[in-house]
Amino acid sequence: MRKLAVIGSGYVGLVSAIGLADFGNMVECVDIDSNKIEELNKGKVPFYEPGLQDYLMKNIKAERIHFSTNINEAIKNGEIVFICVGTPSKDSGEVDLSQVDDVVNAIANNLNSYKVIVTKSTVPVGTNRWIKSLITEKSKNDNFDVISNPEFLREGKAVQDFFHPDRIVIGYDSEQAKEIMKEIYRPLYLIETPFVFCNFETAELIKYASNAFLATKITFINQIANLCEAAGADITQVAKGMGMDGRIGSKFLHPGPGYGGSCFPKDTKGLLETGNKYNVDLSLVREVINANENQKIRMVDKLKKLIGEDIKGKVIAILGLAFKAETDDVRESPAIVIIDKLIKEGAIIKAHDPKAMNQMKKIFPENVITYCDSEYDAVKDADALMILTEWNQYRNLDLNMIKSLMRGNVIIDCRNILDPESVKSLGFSYKGVGR
Ligand code: UDX
Repeated sequence: MRKLAVIGSGYVGLVSAIGLADFGNMVECVDIDSNKIEELNKGKVPFYEPGLQDYLMKNIKAERIHFSTNINEAIKNGEIVFICVGTPSKDSGEVDLSQVDDVVNAIANNLNSYKVIVTKSTVPVGTNRWIKSLITEKSKNDNFDVISNPEFLREGKAVQDFFHPDRIVIGYDSEQAKEIMKEIYRPLYLIETPFVFCNFETAELIKYASNAFLATKITFINQIANLCEAAGADITQVAKGMGMDGRIGSKFLHPGPGYGGSCFPKDTKGLLETGNKYNVDLSLVREVINANENQKIRMVDKLKKLIGEDIKGKVIAILGLAFKAETDDVRESPAIVIIDKLIKEGAIIKAHDPKAMNQMKKIFPENVITYCDSEYDAVKDADALMILTEWNQYRNLDLNMIKSLMRGNVIIDCRNILDPESVKSLGFSYKGVGR
């Protein structure tokens, strides 16, 4: 049992803190948002993540996890301090490290005993070495070690990913700290999770390269899907045939309205900036970023092909606002760009999402789009229906009912979750992605 401080109670921090508490450690989890901390101490997870609530309650009851706003105390008490604050993109595409900088300063001011400082936030190459020199310089003390331990948690599957990761990456420059990390992750060792031990720069790049690769894979299949549309091929079968090649693999070959979320858009831009900094050509990543923007707009073009160029006054039902299913997160959701374009061209939007409507209200308030209690409310009197998120409940829509509720007959299925033939047989004008 170790005393841990987890700084930052967002997605990464909270899932990691709860998981590490479940491993039997004493965890003090900190955030500057006092409302969030109050809710957490009452046992309430501030966002939707399947399974997390139960683990939170279990560990609060066992008194292994506490939440506070007192970063100084948490650092003083912690033997291992996890940095889990946000690293958003600046307008330039560069990574904004100001939150990491604040935490590093707090660590330097509270270095009262040997500590291992673990960076979980996604940070560009060179950051962990910078953290190390900054703490040494500010604290005039070298009784600490730094570890780069990037996270690979997927939203919606974060609990499963924490307890059953594909790998754990540990960037280190001290044997003592490496051994402590092995001890912390012992429960994962026991289930034979592969570990990669490497230097800081390698660990930092594993994270960026993984996310950029996945973003590239999605973008590749999106472009092939666009070609399928032009050439009369079926992307579902093309992807299936490709995925059977063990070197390619079948995962992340689902075409859609473009990738979104808190990681891929930010990390691809961050990697590109790193390339610029080192004067290394990462033109492939640049193309991926551009193509992904185009993919979102293509969904609107698809709609216009079926309902006409002039969409002023047309009622469009949008099913799905989250950037993917099983999350209430709308950060960089393709829905934002698509809805924005539709509104600018005068369309009237009625939207539904099982979890993400409250988040989307912060971007499009209720006087801008109409939020509906059910998918069937949303399609009432609509000229067209667009499915933007692959929620399970949209896979088995009562299409007869939808047909009778809608004014028009157009369905744009941006996630290919409906069966084209049965939809068309009901008299709908249907378009998926790449088929
Ligand atoms: C991702 C990474 O998977 C995770 O390892 C990382 O550390 C954080 O970023 P997440 O953002 O939660 O996780 O979502 P993910 O499931 O990877 O999907 C990202 C986006 O790609 C979503 O918008 C999703 O809809 C899209 N996607 C994914 C596709 O369009 N097609 C696919 O085949 C897979």
